[in-house]
Amino acid sequence: MMQPWLLLAILPFTQAARVIQSNDDGWAEINIRTFYEALTDAGHDVVLSAPAENQSGRGSSDAAPGVVDSDGCEFSSCAGGSPPTGSNSSDPRLNYVNSFPVTSIKAGIDTTAPKFFDGAKPEIALTGPNVGSNVAIQVPFSGTVGAAVYAAKNAGIPSIAFSGSTGEQTAWNKPTPLYSQIYADLALNITSTVLASGMPYLPASAWLNVNFPAVSSTKCNTVNQFKFILTRIYSGVFSPKDVTWCGTDRLPTELSVVTREGCYVTISMGDADDKTDINDERQTQILTKLKPILSCLP
Ligand SMILES: *[C@@H]1O[C@H](CO)[C@@H](O)[C@H](O)[C@H]1NC(C)=O
Ligand SMILES: *[C@@H]1O[C@H](CO)[C@@H](O)[C@H](O)[C@H]1NC(C)=O
Ligand SMILES: *[C@@H]1O[C@H](CO)[C@@H](O)[C@H](O)[C@H]1NC(C)=O
Repeated sequence: MMQPWLLLAILPFTQAARVIQSNDDGWAEINIRTFYEALTDAGHDVVLSAPAENQSGRGSSDAAPGVVDSDGCEFSSCAGGSPPTGSNSSDPRLNYVNSFPVTSIKAGIDTTAPKFFDGAKPEIALTGPNVGSNVAIQVPFSGTVGAAVYAAKNAGIPSIAFSGSTGEQTAWNKPTPLYSQIYADLALNITSTVLASGMPYLPASAWLNVNFPAVSSTKCNTVNQFKFILTRIYSGVFSPKDVTWCGTDRLPTELSVVTREGCYVTISMGDADDKTDINDERQTQILTKLKPILSCLP
């Protein structure tokens, strides 16, 4: 029989973290479930707490959850008339909250996750991957961003909002589309990079806004084709200089990069105080953390 120490030595190095997941497309949408599988397979301790229904575009709204209507949860993932909150009967880590994205992540952080984490709170909050990009002026309206910002600002938990330009809202029990798997793998890569950089995983009140470009059967269809680019949410014309990176002190906007020919993933440094860019020395701290995976545009 193999010695336990030998097994430890051959396992890939993983930093198991307590993770809370949410989104705005709903708890039964395939992107969040594919990411849940990827995070769990990577050894993380994950609890998912997301809206019972599609709550796309609800920003930072928050209201007490109500009884599920007679149609049931999205994609018939729970029965009509189900209680305001509930979980999958065979996997209690999968939870719905019949309200807004912020309400659902709040319930996850305050009530559900501590039951699985021996009373401790999550160490990182991951939202999405959202179906559709969240760049520039879309950012303040996004529930996926709203939930991430709530975690960073109100709960003091570093957070990352992920969004992908390809796909439509798809039930969890359909075959996994290629884009969904690629977005989950890329999101795991960024998450692992942030965790490997050590605590604090992100500076105070910081969150990352990540956008994945289009995936098709012929283009950007394997993870190793993607490059990670450090960007801004807004152009920053009136902001102080950015951290010097890739030979300039003004980062490109996520909109200019995500629409560019090629397979570029944008990572913007968000300030949870107002959902705009971080414009201070926290940029340098985040750059140091992400450097192992970042590229420069050609
Ligand atoms: C989800 O909600 C958004 C915003 O109201 C809407 O644009 C979208 O079509 C909805 N998706 C589905 C599958 O109904
Ligand atoms: C609940 O979890 C089981 C086991 O993972 C799965 O087969 C089933 O599809 C899930 N249902 C929902 C609505 O999540
Ligand atoms: C993460 O992405 C970087 C940059 O593309 C790549 O070099 C690295 O191998 C990836 N790591 C994993 C674990 O996929």
